[in-house]
Amino acid sequence: MKPLATPTRMPDTVRPRLVQMQLPSAQDVRAELAAGLLAPRATIAPKYFYDELGSHLFAAITALDEYTPTRTEAEIFARRRGEIAAAVGPETVFVDLGAGNCAKAARLFGALRPRQYAAVDISVDFLRSALECLQREHPDLEILGIGQDFARGLALPGEVHAQRRLFFYPGSSIGNFAPDEAIVFLHRLHACGAEDAQLLIGVDLIKDEAVLNAAYDDPLGVTAAFNRNVLRHVGRLLDADFDVAQWKHVALYAAREARIEMHLEALADVTVRWPGAERRFARGERIHTENSYKYRPETFAELLRAAGWNPRHVWLDDRAWFALFHAAA
Ligand code: AVJ
Repeated sequence: MKPLATPTRMPDTVRPRLVQMQLPSAQDVRAELAAGLLAPRATIAPKYFYDELGSHLFAAITALDEYTPTRTEAEIFARRRGEIAAAVGPETVFVDLGAGNCAKAARLFGALRPRQYAAVDISVDFLRSALECLQREHPDLEILGIGQDFARGLALPGEVHAQRRLFFYPGSSIGNFAPDEAIVFLHRLHACGAEDAQLLIGVDLIKDEAVLNAAYDDPLGVTAAFNRNVLRHVGRLLDADFDVAQWKHVALYAAREARIEMHLEALADVTVRWPGAERRFARGERIHTENSYKYRPETFAELLRAAGWNPRHVWLDDRAWFALFHAAA
C-alpha cells in the first residue's frame, strides 16, 4: 500500500501578497446606512448585498437561465479569446476590479500571459483562498491581493507595476453607476494608469424588456432572496430590527433611464428601529436597493470617450445582449 502523501506547505516565495487598505469604520458604515434609510426616498447601496450569504446568492443568480449577463459574457470571452489576446498583447499588469473568486480573470491567463496579477476586492478575506489556489496553478505569476473599496477611486500600492496596466472590469458591474458617475469612475481609472494603460470592460445591453425583467425577477425567487437578504446584512451592521418577512422584492425596467431598478416594498406599515433613530414606512413604501443600467454599444463607446478612453474593439454575442469593450488610454 502506498503511504499517504504528506501535505506540503506552500513555500513563502509563491505565497500571494495580500494588502488590506483602509476599511471604513463601523461608525462610518452606520452613518451611511442611517442617512440612506432616513432619506425621503429610502436607499441602501448595492454594495451591502454582498455579505457571505449574499455572495452565494449572487453566484446562484449567475447560474439561472433567466440571468443572461454572466453566461453571455463568458461565451464572448471563450469565443474571442484569441482576438482579445491579440488586441491586448502579452505581459500586462492585469488589474482585476471586483475579482471575487478570480475565475473570470484566470480563464484569460492562458491567452493573455500577464506579467503580474493584482486582484482588487472590498476585503482581502474574499481573495485569500482563491489567490492561494491560483498561485499553485501559476507558480511563476506575480500575484497580489488588494482589499479596497475602489468605487470612489482606485489607489494601487507601489508593488503594482505602473506600466502596461490592463484594467479588467467585467460582468457589467459598471451598470451600478449612473452614466455620469460611470464617466467619473472611468476617468479616475484612466488617471490610475500610464499612457499605455488599457481597459477591458463588460456591459449589459438594452434588450427585450421581458428578457430584462425575467433576469431580475426569476421564478425561483433567487433574486428576491438576494434583494431581501440585504435587510439581514444591514440589520446586523446597524443593529436595526428589520423583519425580512415584511418586505417584498420589486424589480422593474425603467425604459426612460435604461435601467433595472430593484426595490424592497413594505407589505404593511412598518417601523424599523436602531440605536438612536427609527424610520416608519407606510404599506407600499419602498427602499431603493439597486440600479442596473443598460446601454446601446454606441452610447457606451461615447461614455468611454467622455472618460478619456479610446474604444478600440467591441465584441458582441449573436443576439447583441452583451458587449465586451477594449479601450486604450
Ligand atoms: C453585479 C451589478 C452586475 O446588476 O446585474 C444581479 C447585480 N442584481 N441581480 C447586475 C444583480 C440583481 C449585477 N451586477
